[in-house]
Amino acid sequence: MKKVNFTETVLRDANQSLIATRLPYSKFEPILETMDKAGFYSAEVWGGATFDVCLRYLQEDPWERLRKIRAKMPNTKLQMLLRGQNILGYKHYPDDVVRKFVEYSVKNGIDIIRIFDALNDVRNLEVAIDETVKQGAHASGTICFTTSPVHTLEKNVQMVKDLKSMGVSSICIKDMAGIMGPKEAYDLSAAIKDAVPELPLVIHTHCTTGLAFMTDLKAVEAGADVIDTAISPFSGGTSQPATETLAYALRHLGYQVDLDDQVLTKMADFFKGVRADFLKDGTLDPISMATDTQCLNYQIPGGMLSNLISQLKMMNAIDKLDQALAETPKVRADLGYPPLVTPTSQMVGSQAVQNVLAGERYKVVGKEIKAYCRGEYGRTPAPIDPEIQKKILGDTPLVEGRFADSLEPEFEKTKKELGATAKSDEDVLSYIAFPQVAMAFFKDREAGFPKKEEPKKAAAPAAAQAPKQPETAPLPAWQGHVYYARVPAPAGCGYTARPIEPFAASYQPPHLVLGTRDDCTGTFTVTIDGKPYQVSVEKADGPAPAAPAVVAPVAAPVVPAPAPAPAPTAAPAPAAAPAPAPVAPTAGETAVNSPMPGNIFKVECSVGQRVKAGDVLVVLEAMKMEIEVSAPVDGTVKSVAAVVGSTVNTDDLLVVLG
Ligand code: CO
Repeated sequence: MKKVNFTETVLRDANQSLIATRLPYSKFEPILETMDKAGFYSAEVWGGATFDVCLRYLQEDPWERLRKIRAKMPNTKLQMLLRGQNILGYKHYPDDVVRKFVEYSVKNGIDIIRIFDALNDVRNLEVAIDETVKQGAHASGTICFTTSPVHTLEKNVQMVKDLKSMGVSSICIKDMAGIMGPKEAYDLSAAIKDAVPELPLVIHTHCTTGLAFMTDLKAVEAGADVIDTAISPFSGGTSQPATETLAYALRHLGYQVDLDDQVLTKMADFFKGVRADFLKDGTLDPISMATDTQCLNYQIPGGMLSNLISQLKMMNAIDKLDQALAETPKVRADLGYPPLVTPTSQMVGSQAVQNVLAGERYKVVGKEIKAYCRGEYGRTPAPIDPEIQKKILGDTPLVEGRFADSLEPEFEKTKKELGATAKSDEDVLSYIAFPQVAMAFFKDREAGFPKKEEPKKAAAPAAAQAPKQPETAPLPAWQGHVYYARVPAPAGCGYTARPIEPFAASYQPPHLVLGTRDDCTGTFTVTIDGKPYQVSVEKADGPAPAAPAVVAPVAAPVVPAPAPAPAPTAAPAPAAAPAPAPVAPTAGETAVNSPMPGNIFKVECSVGQRVKAGDVLVVLEAMKMEIEVSAPVDGTVKSVAAVVGSTVNTDDLLVVLG
């Protein structure tokens, strides 16, 4: 009797696809010991977006999460998803970082690392595979499934042979968009089993288009050994097919399925409650649960689809979803048919959105797309459209060979730079993967951050506790208009209170103005109208804004007020006006406006600076991408309205050039 094995994805891919990875550890901890008894081949619990979201939104150390899961699930192989040379981020990392990341993943509890490259360029997989094997773990070499005029069966079989020679212990077909039909699955699985019969074949797909159950069945008929499924309450839609359903069907068809049905029932009961909570708070969007056959044309992966929907909603542009979906395959063809999987899915998706929102194709191009067009991500399956490449790159030279070979080792250097800020090598890796997010996390941790038990989107989180008064009740959320903030100076720290009047002309409530000094970061109590509020102040990365004060939006109760480097003593007057109230350019001046909604990530110019057309003035962060806003003309920076950390909308003034 042929045995079919199951990998349970509820904690990683199902979590990522349906609820944007917002499941905190505390919410699933009670079920882990039960899950451990189910008889899964493996449980996918880590990697992918879990790492970023833990640090960014859940106030969880992802490494600690992994160790806790490991302790509660000693009998189940724990699996993670790794983007080869990109690790978990969207850019290429040097080999030493890739190796360290693999090493520490295994040390902290990972058994199986599924390693893929967005472009299926095996040069980007070899280091991660090599290190996984060295660490004694199981490397699962992965093919990103996609269809295009250039993706053939022969090409896929060749890649499998390459992976085998690199030392992988299994092969995975990763159909991140749910576009692999039963016939394709059968043909491809049969061809792979024929080429490398000794390697277990794993099938990973999504229910997005409704094909998944048929696809898994036909793949199993063709010899596939393992299927990825999610426990029923977190199955379907953009997630995986249901574990119980496939176990039932396959058993009836005469396959051996070693899963404990009673345990699965307990898991399903548990996750029904979890699902209800996320439906109630809006994190789980019913659209993500539906079957969407459009994906057969658009090739939108599960995670990308739910991300696109939530991003467009945030921009009040959900009515543009159809347009963005229609633009996506065009962008993909322009870029040489990359498979749509992180990070290329984000790149193609946000480029499609930018093309639609900007009203002109490739007018706004993210840094990542530029890097992609240079060849930094690897070989594209087909050549990039040369005209578009030219429009995006100008005269920038292309990369020859393997991009990672040109990168300097980073781990030891970063470790030294971080010093005591990093408490462990794992911290160093978190920082290398997500510098700003990790730094904010370290600061929060230092301040004894509150554990946010519920990752509710719009709900107000508990206020941060002041480090020196841990017994006091949480301070109230800070909302409303602030005209004057007095910041008590902690010992040895020179914070001063600043009235907001100098900024009144351009001041849009609610904002806070703080005078800060470089070395004075942390969590402070701010008294406004006699009432104490919590404010956390952190040092901003990048050059110092040309103003003595920082204006931070006060949308969230705990206010991240990025503190600039020491302020110049001569106050350059209107430089740091918040974006919504621009200083209108006069005749002969040029306004540089935000091309799209986003956060100000970096300000790379200051008042009085001479700039040339094409120089980067401001970097926005939108849709997880860095978007560079460049000077349209040569000139001098007259004023800078962009403030690091603040939110801007389309057409908000960023910089005035004269
Ligand atoms: Co997936």
